[in-house]
Amino acid sequence: MKTIHCLNEISHLGTALLTEEYTLTNDIKEAQGVLLRSASMHEMELPEGLLAIARAGAGVNNIPLDACAAEGIVVFNTPGANANGVKELVIAGLLLSSRDITGGIEWCKANADDEDIAKSAEKAKKAFAGCEIKGKKLGVIGLGAIGAEVANACSSLGMEVYGYDPFLSVNSAWGLSRNIKHITSLDTIYKECDYITVHVPLFDTTKGMINKAAFDTMKDGIVILNFARDILVNEEDMKEALKSGKVKKYVTDFPNATSAHLEGAMVIPHLGASTEESEDNCAKMAVEEIMDYIDNGNIRNS
Ligand code: MLT
Repeated sequence: MKTIHCLNEISHLGTALLTEEYTLTNDIKEAQGVLLRSASMHEMELPEGLLAIARAGAGVNNIPLDACAAEGIVVFNTPGANANGVKELVIAGLLLSSRDITGGIEWCKANADDEDIAKSAEKAKKAFAGCEIKGKKLGVIGLGAIGAEVANACSSLGMEVYGYDPFLSVNSAWGLSRNIKHITSLDTIYKECDYITVHVPLFDTTKGMINKAAFDTMKDGIVILNFARDILVNEEDMKEALKSGKVKKYVTDFPNATSAHLEGAMVIPHLGASTEESEDNCAKMAVEEIMDYIDNGNIRNS
């Protein structure tokens, strides 16, 4: 019997794919395969018989990759499986940063008992006026599955899209709209764009990449969106940039002790991939990967 442990709740559409040779075990020590979403394995002892770990998501920073490599444990992720879900939330973030939707909703709630609310709204709405994203320049840093989807979608919304990715894959390149300007220097993105959205993996080289030095070269009133990982942005520098008005809005999908208190930030509780469709897609891909490896020794997306 082959055994799988789910460290996080994983969509049942994924675990339903497990063939009859597999059982789900509550005891990770018995597991040959581990499925997880966002729980961290960094402080955990790796079980002796563990063969593979599959992350139902793109990032693998919650898995001790070096320790796994040393033990010969294969680590999988699910590239692209949640790209549409994340893309849709990035677009919501772009719109939230440009139109005062939340302010307007709060105003309507606060004035719900006003019998003449429609008339009052006509007077109040001036305060909630925003700007349109059409015609604005968007820099997309990282053109993997998610970044490429964001770039294409924003281009079809009429934005002028600049894409940057020194490791652009053939697949992503083929999938990119011809309207995307492929830029080879981050500096150009920083200097030219009105909005910047970050879609890079967390590496030592990308950690804190959006920092004071980067802000210094950006336009005043830039909008930054971060749906990749919180520590890609130096949030202490972000605090200053928001205070000075260099950054007009910071939309982040990562609440933490700093971001939650940043004045001017719009903080979302890591909801990018939290859709039924993305959760199902990721769980299915993760289960297929782990079974294909345990059953056949095939490695995909590792
Ligand atoms: C990802 O890395 O794709 C996300 O963190 C997925 C998630 O929300 O679990």
